[in-house]
Amino acid sequence: SGIIPFGRSIVLVGLMGAGKTTIGRPLAARLGLPFVDADVEIERAAGCSIADVFRLYGEAAFRDGERRVIRRLLEGPPMVLATGGGAFMDSTTRALVRERAISIWLRCPLPVLVRRVSGRTHRPLLNTTSPREVLENLMAIRHPVYAEADIIVDCGDNNVEQTTTRVME
Ligand code: S3P
Repeated sequence: SGIIPFGRSIVLVGLMGAGKTTIGRPLAARLGLPFVDADVEIERAAGCSIADVFRLYGEAAFRDGERRVIRRLLEGPPMVLATGGGAFMDSTTRALVRERAISIWLRCPLPVLVRRVSGRTHRPLLNTTSPREVLENLMAIRHPVYAEADIIVDCGDNNVEQTTTRVME
């Protein structure tokens, strides 16, 4: 591939519905890097779904597992890594990402996020009567932290092709 300096991984951060997984795949293909979804790796390690991890062990246990899985992945060869929306909120993870990867925040407007996550039930934090309220609150808490990412890409309501191209640029 040759265009990623120092063999670093690319870590995609942003809220649920921002398109981290959706953009990660074509981005990895263009960069000639493997694509890995941290949530999928956590489910593999736990042997059950993220919803079940939350239900059976609680969010704190999920965050511990998430931190360990991301560490293991970032200690390996370069990849495009889609993280869960809460992963970058962990200061240990942020420090590791800063050291070993290039972080990219996919910043999306609230209405776009709300539309994209509606009708999906696999996200335990959105299993509520008002996903909009949850996302609005998370936005207030997380956006200042996501802003520490190396690169910020404003996604608006752009499609996969447009956003992948913006990230490549
Ligand atoms: C979470 C986001 C989810 C998943 C978990 C918690 C969060 O990942 O890790 O449900 O705290 O924002 P996605 O951002 O891929 O939906």
